[in-house]
Amino acid sequence: MKRLLSLLLAMTAASPLLAQKFEGLAPTPPMGWNTWNTFASNINETLIKQTADVIAASGMRDAGYKFIVLDDAWLAKDRDSEGNLLADPQKFPSGMKALGDYLHSKGFKFGIYNCAGTRTCADYPGGRGHEFQDARTYASWGVDYLKYDWCNHGTANAQETYRTMRDALHAAGRPIIFSLCEWGDSKPWTWAADTGHLWRTTGDIMSCYDCTQQWSSGWKVILDKQVGLEKYSGPDHWNDPDMLEVGNQGLSPAESRAHFSFWCLLAAPLMAGNDVRSMNTDTLAILTNKEAIAIDQDSLGKQGFRFRVETGREIWLRELANGEWALCMLNTGTASADLTIDWSITNWTFKGVKFKIRDLWSGKDLGTTENPLTQTVQAHDVVFVRLTPLPGSMPKA
Ligand code: GLA
Repeated sequence: MKRLLSLLLAMTAASPLLAQKFEGLAPTPPMGWNTWNTFASNINETLIKQTADVIAASGMRDAGYKFIVLDDAWLAKDRDSEGNLLADPQKFPSGMKALGDYLHSKGFKFGIYNCAGTRTCADYPGGRGHEFQDARTYASWGVDYLKYDWCNHGTANAQETYRTMRDALHAAGRPIIFSLCEWGDSKPWTWAADTGHLWRTTGDIMSCYDCTQQWSSGWKVILDKQVGLEKYSGPDHWNDPDMLEVGNQGLSPAESRAHFSFWCLLAAPLMAGNDVRSMNTDTLAILTNKEAIAIDQDSLGKQGFRFRVETGREIWLRELANGEWALCMLNTGTASADLTIDWSITNWTFKGVKFKIRDLWSGKDLGTTENPLTQTVQAHDVVFVRLTPLPGSMPKA
């Protein structure tokens, strides 16, 4: 009987039919740093090590930024004669295993990028047809996170292609977070919960408020595209509105702060994308705001939603664990304004519960929802608050 059971277990592990993603790797949205937004193809092992050192020393690692992810262009232009992926020997002379060891020794997790097509977006060898071989390579290097892009996919079907890579990762046996970067083309939120731990919902983010250029756009444009997707996101299967541009040229400090607030409200993966070696104290303060990060990482894992759009402002809400809520109000105008929240608008949603208001950027308490709240808000800045039920104010079950 025991032998039959182990035989059945072995067959289950080996059967591609029963393959699955590694469950439970992302109970809250993954946090880390990725090369692409600032460095694009100009990456190398010194940059990665320096960045990891700064993330550790600055407090970012301890605030939650654990994944250091090498995006496109870490590869040599071709595979070796046996079809194995090779790191670019000029950029990464010590190789990927050594880099992974370095990151692990500093308390980080090691993330890497490839693409489901024949070539990556920056024209390096893609994974198509090599999925199982590549997954074994990543496992042997100690990779913990794989971002998998969608350039040069030809007529491939997204569901099938990403499931093949999921199965390959599973077969390789090392728990690796699988991050789908399919840009939302086939609505991965409708099919990818059993495939990956997160999936991109849009084209690429750019470092601006609401500009657009081909298929890239500023964070406000991307934010608008998240409306209605909230019901698809949750623990271990997150919507990914792309990486952070906090601290990058093109955003004012207010716009960086608002961008970060909304990514926390959305339960978005928080992948910093700035040059941390030269960031200023404002940028570090935004990225390491523990009370804002606690909203992102809230254990209920519910994505926030757009509650109201009015001339000059938007109000978004997110339900948190233990009856708490987060509220983010954006000044969409081009000048500073006094914005008032008359809490009667939230009565239906909050079912009559009254709350204590905590301002997540000043770290101050702002009274209760028994009185209207008025705040002076700069253009494109936010009021970002946590609402905690007043004692005795919870609705009767
Ligand atoms: C695509 C992805 C980006 C980045 C680049 C790299 O555009 O969406 O996030 O990975 O490819 O080439």
